[in-house]
Parts: sequence; C-alpha cells; structure tokens
Amino acid sequence: MYEANYSEVSEFVFLGLSTSRPVQHVLLTFSTVFYVTIVLGNLLVVFTVTFDSHLHSPMYFLLANLSFMDLCFSTLTVPKMISDLYSGQNTISFQGCVIQIFVLHVLGGSEMVLLIAMALDRYVAICKPLHYLTIVSPCMCIWLLVGAWLIGLIHAVTQVAFIVHLHFCGPSEIDSFYCDLPWFIKLACTDTYKLEFMVTANSGFISMGTFFLLIFSYIFILVTVWKHSSGGLSKALSTLSAHVTVVVLFFGPCIFVYVWPFPTVPVDKFLALLDFMITPILNPAIYTLRNKDMKMAMRRLSSQLLSLRKIS
Ligand SMILES: *[C@@H]1O[C@H](CO)[C@@H](O)[C@H](O)[C@H]1NC(C)=O
Repeated sequence: MYEANYSEVSEFVFLGLSTSRPVQHVLLTFSTVFYVTIVLGNLLVVFTVTFDSHLHSPMYFLLANLSFMDLCFSTLTVPKMISDLYSGQNTISFQGCVIQIFVLHVLGGSEMVLLIAMALDRYVAICKPLHYLTIVSPCMCIWLLVGAWLIGLIHAVTQVAFIVHLHFCGPSEIDSFYCDLPWFIKLACTDTYKLEFMVTANSGFISMGTFFLLIFSYIFILVTVWKHSSGGLSKALSTLSAHVTVVVLFFGPCIFVYVWPFPTVPVDKFLALLDFMITPILNPAIYTLRNKDMKMAMRRLSSQLLSLRKIS
C-alpha cells in the first residue's frame, strides 16, 4: 500500500540564478565570455608548460596541473548552466546530480591539496633554496600529485556514500545552478540532521583547515623573507598578496556553503560563481601569466609556431 503511493523523484529542477528572461540573457552572455576565457587561458598555461623544455620543473608542473584542474572544475558546471540559460530547460537526472556532486568533491579536494603542495614548494624555494632541488624532486612532485588526487577521491567517496541511498519524494527544486550536498540533502525525505552534521564535519572542516594552513604558510614565508633580506620583501609581498586574494576568493564561498550550510541561503549560489567562473580565470592570470619565465616561454613558442607556418 505505502509503496504504491510512494512517488520517487527521478529528476531535479534547477531554479538557476534568476527567473527573469532579460537577466538570463545577460547571464548567458557573461558566462559564455567567462567560460571561453577560462578554457583559452588554462589551455595556454598547460600547452606552454608541456611544450617548453625550459619550464620542465616541479613548480611549473604543479601550475599546469592547477590549470588543468581549474578547467575541469568549471567545465563540470558552467556549460550545463549555459545550456540551461539558453534552452530554458533546467532539469538534471538523479544520477547526473550525484555524479556532479562526486566529481565536484574529487576536484575540489584535489585542488585544495595541490594549493598546499604549491605553498610548500614556494616555502622550500624561498626559505631553503640550497636544498630545493633535493627536496622538491620530480619524483616528489609526482607523489604530491598522486596524493592530491587520492585525497580528493577519498573525500568524495566518504561524502557520496552517505547520500546515494537517500529517498526523494518531492519537492524536487534546487535553488542553484548545480548540484551540491547542502541543496541535495535538504530535498531528501528523511531526517537529515546527521547528514548535515556530516557535511559540515567533512567538507567544512577540509575547507576551513586548508584555508588557515595556506594563510599561515604565507605569513610564515613572509616573515622568513623579511628577516633574511631587505630587498626581497616588496616583491614577496606583492606575489603573496596576489596568492592570498585568490585563496580568499576560492575558499570564502566554500566555507560559506559548507560550514554554515543549513539553512541554505540564496546568496550561496552567487558566491559559488566565484569558484566556477572567477578563480579559474585568476589562477592562470596570477600564478602564471605574471611570471617572467612564462612570458618568455610563450614568446618562444609563438615565434616557433610562426616559423613553422612560413616553412609549410
Ligand atoms: C602534472 O604534473 C606531472 C608531473 O609533474 C606532469 O608530468 C604532467 O604533465 C602535469 N599535467 C599537466 C596537465 O600539465
């Protein structure tokens, strides 16, 4: 009897960022321009590092990997959002939603570990320059990457394992443009108190922990530079303040969404835009394109490409 009346939700509806058609057109234009910029900027970084042998060092490999992750991160949500804005059809299947949550947490977890690895790399380069080549070896670099992906994977599995068996009996509206734990759990028709606690304890703890670890490591590097030299301080200060800006923009929304996730507030989805559309542009811009060696490498590559064209 009960089973017969029990209607399972198999599809969710995104309410999106706005319901007004003119606003949707503006959003469509902006998100398309941003996404194209993200794809081109990050691919440029990956190609330059891969094809220029002068950049085959741990720092640039980590940067190229960060660009690759950023690209995947926004590809997970932005194209779907663009197509929803374009077609006005905002549905996602139950499986699609779970997959989006899973991949989001694999990528998010790995990116956080990668950012810590990059801070460590800078710490060793600045504070222990004589031992840099022995500590940050190519082998170490690969271990850091394997560790990052592994931690991301474990984190995502431990989150998604709790939610795949949830039942949904309506409503099926998600007040956002992508699936994530806080909205998903809210729609389940069970008592979700324990799940809410689990999200705060896992995702919330990881984002807060990584954020403070990064901020402390930047302060530590800055103090070390300040003690040892007088000339390097202003350069270190400008580099680190750029990094701190990106870190605040990346982690601010995460902390907002996961540490106080319940009740979810409408501002969460706008903050999430920072993670999917702004930091994937800022990362290549700040970490890489400001860099002198990187600019020289791009000049070399473009002149090589031009001379290839002349020959053929
Ligand atoms: C990531 O780093 C590894 C090892 O350091 C490197 O071989 C690989 O090419 C990098 N990936 C990208 C996308 O640049």
